[in-house]
Amino acid sequence: MQTLAIIGSQWGDEGKGKITDLLGQKCDLVVRYQGGNNAGHTIIVGNKKTVLHLIPSGILHPHCVSLIGHGVVFDPEAFCKELDEVVNSGVEVTPKNLKISENATVITAYNKLLDVQRESKGPVKIGTTGRGIGPAYEDKAARKAIKIKDLLDLERLTKKLRQNAEEKIVLFEAKYKTEYPSVEAEAKRLFELGERVAPFVCDTFSYLDQALTANKKVLYEGAQGVLLDVDYGTYPYVTSSNTSAGGIYTGAGVSGKHLDEVLGITKAYTTRVGEGPFPSELFDEVGKHIQTKGNEVGATTGRTRRCGWLDLPLLKYSVKASNITSLALTKVDILCGIDTLKICIGYKYKGEIIDCAYPGIDLAEVEPVLKEVPPFNDTFTDGKELSPSLKSYIETIEQTVGIPVGIIAYGPERSEIKFLQNYF
Ligand code: IMP
Repeated sequence: MQTLAIIGSQWGDEGKGKITDLLGQKCDLVVRYQGGNNAGHTIIVGNKKTVLHLIPSGILHPHCVSLIGHGVVFDPEAFCKELDEVVNSGVEVTPKNLKISENATVITAYNKLLDVQRESKGPVKIGTTGRGIGPAYEDKAARKAIKIKDLLDLERLTKKLRQNAEEKIVLFEAKYKTEYPSVEAEAKRLFELGERVAPFVCDTFSYLDQALTANKKVLYEGAQGVLLDVDYGTYPYVTSSNTSAGGIYTGAGVSGKHLDEVLGITKAYTTRVGEGPFPSELFDEVGKHIQTKGNEVGATTGRTRRCGWLDLPLLKYSVKASNITSLALTKVDILCGIDTLKICIGYKYKGEIIDCAYPGIDLAEVEPVLKEVPPFNDTFTDGKELSPSLKSYIETIEQTVGIPVGIIAYGPERSEIKFLQNYF
């Protein structure tokens, strides 16, 4: 295997950071291709915790090149803050090991402000992270986005910001009763931040193309999860990027032949932050227990995550939607010791039982079909076999979705993982 994508198969927060970190060690390049600093990838080594939002997880490995592709929306202020944190924690970051696409879209102060205004005053509350992600992608689709290369040219930057302001001032003042921040001040702020970003800016498309031609090993690091994909996800309660494997082709800039396998990171149960339907959600003590034991609190926003049973109809859909070839089952330890353990194996919908959450189905209208499964309480001691109940939990997943579970993770440490198949 030369190339592997790591993507979330649920609504994000599946524990991708740790797996990306582990498999990134074996790679030459780790590439972010979508999303922005709405992501939060937590990596724990010893007693040191690093949370990466924008910089690819490969940065923690000295031999690895981390690349931010043109499909990413890039907040230069958040980037500089994160860069300082990473550097202060002893990691060497240079233009040799970090490369940022000159064509990535910049998140401006207006994008952030609009995101927050809409969430607080608009007609539909999505529960966004408030990082300006949606409005930045809107600007991109409207062909008005500020690109990273614009940060390096104050005149061009000011001109583009001024053009954008013409329409947006009307929206801000008439609809949201909010003053539109000064174009000159924003241009100056972005230009100054751009000076810090500049050394890392390059043509990542050509860099990646050459690396792939030279048979370098590449890991594509997805953020969020398939169910938050703007096309495949539970629209409108989604993020604004293509979080599924499809996003790699456009966001990193590679062709189909450069994606060998897709590893879907799947939490042993389901969580969701923000609004939107969640068929297997738990509102009882078990849900609270999972939330507390699993520390289900957002790494980016600090919001408590909603918790529920593993939802196989949704997982089956994600596997199809993203051509996932194997799964990593994470946070298995959190389910240990729960006496009455259940899995959602189907939905009752309009008088029928269905086993896959196809897009035409209104998730707010389904009733989950829950199956009680044998509880497990494994200790995961080195060399010890998995218990028959945990094996059967894994088999149920494999049989339903039709692909193997290649990894199980049972704690935040790098060592708390079991490989059932080889990657790279
Ligand atoms: P946005 O990406 O900030 O626009 O938020 C849109 C939706 O995606 C909201 O429901 C967020 O809670 C969710 N979301 C965005 N990023 C993440 C993530 O990294 N993990 C989980 N949910 C996320």
